[in-house]
Amino acid sequence: MIIAVDGPTASGKGTIARGLAAHYGLPYLDTGLLYRAVGRQVFIDGGDPDEAGDALAGTAFPDALLADPSLRSEETGGLASRVSIHPSVRQALYERQRKFAEQPGGAVLDGRDIATVIAPDADVKLFVTASVEARAERRWKEMRESGIEVSLDDIAQDIRARDERDANRAEAPLRVAEGAFVIDNSAMTREQALAAAIEAVEAARRG
Ligand code: DC
Repeated sequence: MIIAVDGPTASGKGTIARGLAAHYGLPYLDTGLLYRAVGRQVFIDGGDPDEAGDALAGTAFPDALLADPSLRSEETGGLASRVSIHPSVRQALYERQRKFAEQPGGAVLDGRDIATVIAPDADVKLFVTASVEARAERRWKEMRESGIEVSLDDIAQDIRARDERDANRAEAPLRVAEGAFVIDNSAMTREQALAAAIEAVEAARRG
């Protein structure tokens, strides 16, 4: 069974995708991490993430970079969003994601274009979202807990900018795929959101 989980930044799609992978005993791929590694590699190389050539060179990142905690930062998220607009970068990462999705037994993948481009044949397509306010507040709390002081307004602004870029790029923009089940978790706890996702998977399996 292939489960595709798409959604905007800080929507909780990663938590849901990881929860589904554990529940169904499936391997999980966070595809955003690949774009983050490209963004980080471009930064390390001193390149320009808005230049297609520099961004493409970043796709040659070493696998060890995927375990680097700096990939989780807001800065790297912004770089990832910028390198991800280049079609050549998306193409370079395509095979790796496709292979993961096609492995025997199935997989759970999360990202922006899983149900639309990487695995349009997925058995279950989920689109996880939440209001900008709810997402900003969660991100703000997470950052405060890890000792980072930032204003809620700055985070909300950053989230809006990322949404805008991810949804309006020409290649593989963030969209709700046809047949996708939308989970808006603005007013849900993590447990409720995961339960809603499991229910959606079960409904899809019943056909
Ligand atoms: O999910 P994330 O915040 O880690 O993703 C970081 C950026 O990577 C996101 O802003 C856009 C890009 N991305 C993408 O274009 N396609 C994907 N499948 C996953 C992420």
